[in-house]
Amino acid sequence: MGDLMRRFWQPALLASELPAPDCPPVRVRLLGEDLVAFRDSDGRVGLLAEHCAHRGASLYFGRVEAGGLRCVYHGWKWDADGACLEMPNEPATSTFKDRVRQPAYATREKAGLIWAYLGPPGTAGDLPGMEWLGLPPDHLHVSKWILEANYLQGMEGEVDSAHISFLHTNYDLDSVGMGEDFGRVSNWRNDLAPALTVNETDYGFVYGSRRNYQDGRRYHWRLTHWLLPTYSLIPGTRWPIGGRCWVPIDDEHTWTFNYWYNADAPIPESDLAWIESGIQVPPVLIPGTFKPVRNKENDYQIDREAQRTRSYTGIYGGGTQDRAIVESMGPIYDRTKEHLVSTDVAVIAARRILLRAARDLQEGRAPGAAAGGSMYRARPVDVISEHAQLGAVLREHADEIQARTERSYLSLVAR
Ligand code: FES
Ligand SMILES: [Fe+2]
Repeated sequence: MGDLMRRFWQPALLASELPAPDCPPVRVRLLGEDLVAFRDSDGRVGLLAEHCAHRGASLYFGRVEAGGLRCVYHGWKWDADGACLEMPNEPATSTFKDRVRQPAYATREKAGLIWAYLGPPGTAGDLPGMEWLGLPPDHLHVSKWILEANYLQGMEGEVDSAHISFLHTNYDLDSVGMGEDFGRVSNWRNDLAPALTVNETDYGFVYGSRRNYQDGRRYHWRLTHWLLPTYSLIPGTRWPIGGRCWVPIDDEHTWTFNYWYNADAPIPESDLAWIESGIQVPPVLIPGTFKPVRNKENDYQIDREAQRTRSYTGIYGGGTQDRAIVESMGPIYDRTKEHLVSTDVAVIAARRILLRAARDLQEGRAPGAAAGGSMYRARPVDVISEHAQLGAVLREHADEIQARTERSYLSLVAR
């Protein structure tokens, strides 16, 4: 599965972790590999193996200077591509530096993130063309934090619409800032057993969860996209909307990258304050770290009185509720102990698609979705519809679900 993941561009770190040319380097662990990221004098980001190719000193302690990252043990200096620029402990006549390289991965910078391609050289496709990648910075809020569990456990919560009727139920919805959306959100509680339908696509799938609507006549549909290898696009009743990407640090730890976006306008201050409060995602972090304040060591600060009187879990914050429950399964849950039911159909579909893609790759067939680009241009929707079948809802809302093209987006900005 790691080989499959490496065939996709994935977020590696926030661009803000490397705020300026020649700023201090940062450690980045991805897919079980220890790496160091740095921004050179021209602003280019290098992502190198952490341990120096000479004798293994950590380049985290290195000096970022004049176009490269210099190991402080014997002064070898590496550029962003892993070429050795200087080998000052060798005679000036030596050409050895031209023959040794530091392992390095390709990077790109977009949408406030540094993206990395960890696959074999020459196989990289394009960045995924989700609409938030093309938005101006003030239309977008990106963040990251650590999940202390396997990536798949976290990701499975994205395609499990049924859990919102339970885990995320707050008895006092106005207190979590959802007052105006009360009607539709409260519908989560009117129908606890949504009917799920999965529609496979080039990029993964779009699935619809159908709940009976209060009027007894129509349906409340939430159409969520799951995009290879681990992206989600989750519907909401108003902007901003967003989703997450689950990037393995190693088998038992995951970077959760979160994106909120408004395709039409800058995200207003009031929404930014709501986002940063920890009431949903991202969680509030321990300063200087990506570890949430509410974490498994303090039982996510569960408040049993709140659980009796105000919320289903007694845990503050929608994203913290997800993280608590996902980590509570242990670092990698033994799936042979599960008993899956009909609302797990999208979880099953995601597992099958990932396994199929991994087996295909083993047999020499690279994943088509790794080409990235415009096939990822999809939008999630939350709608009330009279249609009972997913196909009919997809047709009814085809214009929204297939998000705007780059060209029409630009013309919108020009207006
Ligand atoms: S270990 Fe890096 S220069 Fe010697
Ligand atoms: Fe959730």
